[in-house]
Amino acid sequence: MNIAFFSCQSYEQPFLEAANSNQRHQLTFLPQALTPETVHLAAGHQAICVFVNDQLTRPTLQALGKLGIGLVALRCTGYNQVDVQTAQQLGIRIMRVPTYSPHSVAEHAVALLMSLNRKTCLAYQRTKENNFTLDGLMGFDLYGKRIGVIGTGKIGTAFARIMLGFGCRVLAYDKVRSAVLRELGVAYLPLNEVLSEADVVSLHCPLTLETYHLITDITLAEMKPGAYLINTSRGGLLDTPAVLKALKSGHLGALGADVYELEDDYFFTDWSNKDMPDANLNTLTHLPNVLVTAHQGFFTGEAMEQIAHTTLNNLTYLEQASLEHEDSGWAASTGNPLLTDTMVVE
Ligand code: NAI
Repeated sequence: MNIAFFSCQSYEQPFLEAANSNQRHQLTFLPQALTPETVHLAAGHQAICVFVNDQLTRPTLQALGKLGIGLVALRCTGYNQVDVQTAQQLGIRIMRVPTYSPHSVAEHAVALLMSLNRKTCLAYQRTKENNFTLDGLMGFDLYGKRIGVIGTGKIGTAFARIMLGFGCRVLAYDKVRSAVLRELGVAYLPLNEVLSEADVVSLHCPLTLETYHLITDITLAEMKPGAYLINTSRGGLLDTPAVLKALKSGHLGALGADVYELEDDYFFTDWSNKDMPDANLNTLTHLPNVLVTAHQGFFTGEAMEQIAHTTLNNLTYLEQASLEHEDSGWAASTGNPLLTDTMVVE
């Protein structure tokens, strides 16, 4: 198949080429994001492959349909950027990577927490300038602290396990309770109780209509004064102005964010020589109690390899298999990656 890869960075290409080495697809790597303006670049391909910030909106899907594209592979887990209903109506099949190293994101959440708590970024800057003072660098022991985990799926579970290893007490909120975590001593509580008791809250649920702006003035007020908030899931979980207010007042002790609600326009692009038009993002990146990373939670060699393999395998499988065979094949192996046809929705 001829496949156009949108938003494809140079560091992804070797992984995709390696995964394609025993398959016979023709891969076109495009740096452009998929938008109604760039969708014409899909012409001449049978399938396209997109990433987290490529918006599969109704107009874009309609344009893809007109170009005869019937197959879209997401090389990510989350699919909040997809108008699944329109894709179904148009008969465009959408698939994703339902699972890859959850450790990559969980460990990044820990890195954000540890960097904020122990002021590692500030210490790095100081020692580079031969300033070996410790004023302002004091942190707290994580040992014995209460960690709230919102969403205990694959990543939330990996994060909870690490926190248990630190000697923390883990409190969780999820509609689906994990028997494994309960056995490990994790306590499931209502959301307001997790928020009010936790010293650190880490978000690991998907962005859905229900979780959109989960963190608002109201839920922030429920949090312990000085608590830390870590968000490696999706920016839309936070009402950013409310979070900024809480950070400035000190009610929220710190924010570690790998995602930002309006990240599509900025992340994965070098803005260092341009004016930053987004005032909220500008404030976030400059507040001393905030650490922003540009959606790099997934970015480990192991995860990249798995994403590339699953994506290419999905495309090959769908190209070759009959519908009947596809469903049983996927269900039996890695979890069905099809969003359309079978509507896998958590
Ligand atoms: P998962 O599907 O294994 O787990 C999600 C969990 O959230 C499930 O247990 C589900 O029951 C729970 N959940 C759903 N709605 C909820 C609600 N209203 N309240 C509380 N819990 C709720 O997904 P996984 O693999 O753990 O990924 C979680 C999220 O992490 C993804 O949806 C994606 O947004 C984000 N992600 C971020 C990456 C990054 O690079 N920063 C990379 C991969 C995923």
